[in-house]
Amino acid sequence: MTKVSLVGCGLVGGAWAVVFARAGLDATLYDPSPSAIETALRVARESAEALAKNGLTNGKTADEIMARLTPAASLAEAAGSADYIQESAPERLLVKQDLYKALLPLVQPHAIVASSTSGLPASAFTERLTGRERCVVAHPINPPHLIPLVEIVPTPWTDPAVVTQTEALMRQVGQSPIVLAREIDGFVVNRLQSAVLAEAFRLVEDGICSAAAVDAAMSEGLGLRWAFMGPFETIDLNAQGGIADYCMKLGPMYHDLAQAQADPRPWSPELIAAVEVVRRAVTPIEALDDRKAWRDRSLAALVCAKRAIMSGQGAVGSGVAEES
Ligand SMILES: NC(=O)c1ccc[n+]([C@@H]2O[C@H](COP(=O)([O-])OP(=O)(O)OC[C@H]3O[C@@H](n4cnc5c(N)ncnc54)[C@H](O)[C@@H]3O)[C@@H](O)[C@H]2O)c1
Repeated sequence: MTKVSLVGCGLVGGAWAVVFARAGLDATLYDPSPSAIETALRVARESAEALAKNGLTNGKTADEIMARLTPAASLAEAAGSADYIQESAPERLLVKQDLYKALLPLVQPHAIVASSTSGLPASAFTERLTGRERCVVAHPINPPHLIPLVEIVPTPWTDPAVVTQTEALMRQVGQSPIVLAREIDGFVVNRLQSAVLAEAFRLVEDGICSAAAVDAAMSEGLGLRWAFMGPFETIDLNAQGGIADYCMKLGPMYHDLAQAQADPRPWSPELIAAVEVVRRAVTPIEALDDRKAWRDRSLAALVCAKRAIMSGQGAVGSGVAEES
């Protein structure tokens, strides 16, 4: 059975621990800060209890999940015994470069070293290292125990078998991997998010609508469909003749829009301040942690609803879910 090590146990590393343990895999936690491991284990227990309440633990109790997690005293201890290492150290190039230099000589020859990095290409911190073919990016969306997507991004020298094995492991632990052909800034998710954010700020800056209206356009509009189908399936279902029909009718309009949107703008301090005012009126700064907890409870409920929809039990006689 795959033995996992988590190297770097902050926000993301701690959440990964729950993902692997929930799937029945043993995982070792290493972090240079012992208090980070303590915090990660405490938060992992809270998450496991919340998941168990929502039926999202494959029938396991929080105690059974926590029994799979073991702190490691050193990087060597964590790295030497693992088949798969998920690195979630800070998003700073020098930190990752130093870490990989120390880590790769310690890992078993067959082990995979996957980075959670949100934006650094793994080639930037593995280029000169022996064992670099074992390295790949496995980028989660926070929090990974509730959001299953993982972006798998190979470097130019990643062994294709490492990509295949990482993809298989992600499926085994209940995540939904997508594999990129090669490195690209922002991977897929942040490129999509970047396009949406650029337009969201533009609409507010140009006085077209409020920040609250932009949020509503997503949460009460596009986001409802996007929670269970992507943009391609969305447009495939929005024209009588499917996607080709849609593109024929509306392609020129979207092309014009894209040209009008093609001027990237910095987010000015004034614009950020204006959006901040709107956000703080809804969620005061001291309530952000409560709101994050609310987000995670809402995500858990949404994951349950989505499972029911996808299994055909939640589609009220429409037949839509059964087909997708
Ligand atoms: N926060 C997010 O939403 C998010 C989402 C997806 C991916 N990521 C990526 O995950 C990684 C970790 O992000 P985070 O938000 O968990 O950061 P974090 O600051 O919460 O945690 C980083 C942890 O790494 C530890 N650390 C410091 N130096 C280390 C070293 N040399 N070796 C091992 N561990 C070390 C720190 O003590 C800390 O506990 C980053 O690469 C980030 O881009 C973050």
